[in-house]
Amino acid sequence: MRAAAIAQPNIALIKYWGKRDVDRNLPAVGSISITLRELFTEMHVQLDAGLPHDVLAVNGTPDTALLPRLSACLDRVMGSERSRARIDSRCNFPIAAGLASSASAFAALTVAAAAAANKSPEPAALASLAGRASGSAARSLYSGFVELENTADDIAVRTLRDPGEWPLAVVVAITASGPKSVGSTRAMELSRQTSPFYSSWIEQQPHDLGVARDAIMRRDFEKLAAVSEHNCLKMHSIMWASRPPVVYWNSATMGCLQTIRDLQAQGVGVFFTMDAGPQVKAVCLPEYAQQVRGALAATDGVIELMESGLGDAARLVDLT
Ligand code: PMV
Repeated sequence: MRAAAIAQPNIALIKYWGKRDVDRNLPAVGSISITLRELFTEMHVQLDAGLPHDVLAVNGTPDTALLPRLSACLDRVMGSERSRARIDSRCNFPIAAGLASSASAFAALTVAAAAAANKSPEPAALASLAGRASGSAARSLYSGFVELENTADDIAVRTLRDPGEWPLAVVVAITASGPKSVGSTRAMELSRQTSPFYSSWIEQQPHDLGVARDAIMRRDFEKLAAVSEHNCLKMHSIMWASRPPVVYWNSATMGCLQTIRDLQAQGVGVFFTMDAGPQVKAVCLPEYAQQVRGALAATDGVIELMESGLGDAARLVDLT
């Protein structure tokens, strides 16, 4: 009747952008991500037959805007005949700002909801349920370097390497604090319907996935850096060329890219990636994390920095 789970957000290196089935929220392409360690969402779910409807609090404040998506996720995991639930979400980083808060939120909610309903689905079924709520959430059910593949009728997710096997560091530069201008589902549909580059994106993704998978297996940082930056810039080019255009970047985003280029020119092992928002994620070899942090802190327009290593899969929290 009551359970809690914690999940970390993940950052895609080879991106998911576009849906092949909007109703079932199935991605048009596979993706590869890294699950983070220091950022988290913790979800508490308590079923209460006396409640007239679900209730949500985010960091202690009642929230109705996010509730419908969370309720739909509970219905899928527990069945629509379930009792109403009190959902308490705690998150230690900005929500809906391009930091994959939906990934950690829905991964944690899926795990907590299954436990609260006394169900123990196989990991594959959990990933599928989390993916129905948010495409990237399925990846937060796994640790370290994670690949999500499209299967004929669903998705299949697995860890390619555990965090300890290649402990990269991530420095996140926050360049704007509000929620993002356009939600990712709408932006993906605009890309699919109007961007002239969308079909090449779909065609080239298997190649990028293969290069990144190989780089991760060999721990080849330069190879992973090159394909990740290329894949990220391709994804943003599709958005820029859609009608209306979707531009998540601001001038500080550009400043951070320049900072990272300058560091690379000095031989620092670092590369950038960005998702549906203006924040810049600098992925680096751990020995360079301090230098990367210092350089990004000195970049105009950077509001805040967060640093993380690679982390674990979504898991239950002991409430006893
Ligand atoms: O899972 P969603 O719907 O928030 O979409 C995530 C899309 C990107 O973050 C831009 C890319 C990705 O693979 O995570």
